[in-house]
Amino acid sequence: SDLCANGSAKGKRVFIRADLNVPQDDAGNITEDTRVRASVPAIEMALKAGAAVMVTSHLGRPTEGEFKSADSLAPVAKRLGELLGRDVPLVANWVDGVTVEPGQVVLLENCRVNKGEKKNNDELARKLGALCDIFVHDAFGTSHRAEGTTYGIAQYAPVACAGPLLAAEIDAITKALANPKRPLAAIVAGSKVSTKLTILKSLANNVDQLIVGGGIANTFMLAAGLNIGKSLAEHDLVDEAKAVIDIMKARGAEVPIPTDVVTAKTFAADAVATVKKATDVADDDMILDIGPETAAKLAAQLKQAGTIVWNGPVGVFEFAAFENGTKTIAHAIAESSAFSIAGGGDTLAAIAKYGIEKQVGYISTGGGAFLEVLEGKTLPAFEILTKRAAG
Ligand code: 3PG
Repeated sequence: SDLCANGSAKGKRVFIRADLNVPQDDAGNITEDTRVRASVPAIEMALKAGAAVMVTSHLGRPTEGEFKSADSLAPVAKRLGELLGRDVPLVANWVDGVTVEPGQVVLLENCRVNKGEKKNNDELARKLGALCDIFVHDAFGTSHRAEGTTYGIAQYAPVACAGPLLAAEIDAITKALANPKRPLAAIVAGSKVSTKLTILKSLANNVDQLIVGGGIANTFMLAAGLNIGKSLAEHDLVDEAKAVIDIMKARGAEVPIPTDVVTAKTFAADAVATVKKATDVADDDMILDIGPETAAKLAAQLKQAGTIVWNGPVGVFEFAAFENGTKTIAHAIAESSAFSIAGGGDTLAAIAKYGIEKQVGYISTGGGAFLEVLEGKTLPAFEILTKRAAG
């Protein structure tokens, strides 16, 4: 099919910005390749159309102008080659020109090593724009960054559009948040309210149930007047948590506060786990998971939901004694007929642990980008494409 729906890409120079920022071990082996696999459809589409294909991504956060071997996309070129079933040459120092023939694909070395990339320097942006006939932005995971290869090139390329992955991510998020089948339930969990306060406030104006977990739930328990002992919480954000509860109440929606919890005296895998009523937490207790009664109630709500947004495990699921809450939530999402969308590193780890990949409606490749969308922010890299499309 045609990229950017502007006629054939045959013989055209297509520049694809992907997010191939994948984790590696010390030996440089890719430990999790979801993003590489997710980049394949756009590349195959361009190759099939007979385009000369250039692909780039950042890897990590290198110092501009100082390329080190650990910054190299070489392991990604190898993996991409395996997935595409063809050799993917890696090209260094490519800003001033790239040699690539129609029907070929090359991977352009870590774009964040180029001077001016991060601040979207205009001179660099013009050069990037001149490298191609068509720019395809397919890096959802980096679309919250206005950098040279995500924003600048989109300003100057003759044609610029979203690739299939970016489009799918935006579609899934729009389906979940802008036009959801109700009830819409969101699970926002994780250790800190502070990192997710904007998300909580933004979702409080939209969702029917705002399920909190982890350290975030502890702060909400404080807001509800409960003792949480020595659990992780942010005492200075209790008023903010109250404000979120009030927004929800005013809309006739709710933030379910745990009625039981799993506690321990120490934070350790072998700590003794004790289930307690939420009103019985002692001063030396640490809450490490929601209790079975709470988990069952939440699971029942999730099964009734029309749409579910999931970010964050509700307990310390890495420890077997404190995984039940997260496991119950994961299975409830899997069994629910709701459209579900999940994102964030810990959430993806939980999805993998409980083997529910196939039952989640959409798993986002975005980390920070996914969170910014939940915050209700406009993604700059998407915004420029919209502007270009409007002419
Ligand atoms: C990510 O891993 O979330 C993206 O690749 C963005 O990376 P960054 O936070 O370094 O911009």
